[in-house]
Formats: sequence, structure tokens, C-alpha cells
Amino acid sequence: MAILRIIKYPEPELRQSTQEVPLAEVGAPGIRRLVEDLVETMYSHNGAGLAAVQVGRPERIILIDGHVAGGAEDAPPVVLINPTIEHLADETETADEGCLSFPGIFVPIKRSLQARVSAYGLDGKCFTIEAEGLYARALQHETDHLTGRMIVDFVGAVKREIIKRKMKRVAREEAEEAEESPARRVSDAKTL
Ligand code: NI
Repeated sequence: MAILRIIKYPEPELRQSTQEVPLAEVGAPGIRRLVEDLVETMYSHNGAGLAAVQVGRPERIILIDGHVAGGAEDAPPVVLINPTIEHLADETETADEGCLSFPGIFVPIKRSLQARVSAYGLDGKCFTIEAEGLYARALQHETDHLTGRMIVDFVGAVKREIIKRKMKRVAREEAEEAEESPARRVSDAKTL
């Protein structure tokens, strides 16, 4: 397994078009290895979720932390391959959302309180999730990544400029840190 570099906004790869994983390849070694690397990358950054496009891969694969998904503290992450949002409840809630591609930035975003999502697992079987609260929010956040939509797209022009400026600083710091200590780990709680 490997910890992959997470692509930061405004790097253009975050907006690349994504592709469904062919069903014949769902359980193949290449996809399994990618999922293992995504899991390790998400945990090393204390992320609550991650989309493959955030490490520069076009496959439509997302992960949600097992605890956020309603499991025990050490539950394995939920792996969703080719996820589709089947239904979003009308009832919404606004809460701050972070993203591993925007370290240190939180944006209030209105999301449906409940979401029904279907996807394929690594076993090649289709499953459906009925999620609520943070789990539903995380699913909406990660599926947004697959269409290139990110937290910066929920703010107005002024705030977007502020975020862009902060991210330029992050990029500078990341370049400096890469020279100093390549293995430094970041810790952002509840970052999707
Ligand atoms: Ni994100």
C-alpha cells in the first residue's frame, strides 16, 4: 500500500472528467490496489472520505470512513465503485464542510439530510445505502468530486478569491515542506 499525494485546489486534475470502472475490472488487482492506496491515503490525512480523482485518478471510486458510515470506531471504510445518487431528501441542513484538497478551509454547505446511493463493491455486487446526517453529507460531497464539483463552487466570488489566495499559500508551504520532510502527516478532523 502507498500513501498517494492528494491534489489540491486549484490544480486542474481535480476537474478532470471521471470514468465508470468496467464491471469486469471491479475486483481486478489494479482496482484493488488503487482502493488500498486510497484507504491508506485517507487515513494518513485523517479524512472522513476521499474520491479517486483527488489523487489524480479518473475512476469513479469514493470511500467513506467506516465510523462516519455508522460503524464502530475502527470499522473499515465503505468503498463505493460507480456510485449513483438515487434519491436526496428535501429536508436539508447547513454545516461546515472541509475537504482534503482544501486543507484548513471550511465552507458552510446546505446538504440533504438523507441520501440513497447505489454502487458496486469490490466483490462486484451492487448495493444500496440509506444514509443520514454526516454519512449522507459525506456521500454528497464525494459524489460531487466525480463531477468536478467542490466546496469552492458553493461560495460567492469574494470568498472564492479568499480561498484561492489561501490555497496559493498552502501550495507554497507544501513545496517548502516537500524539501524539508516528505513524510509529514497532516491532521484535519472531519475532512471529506
Ligand atoms: Ni473533498
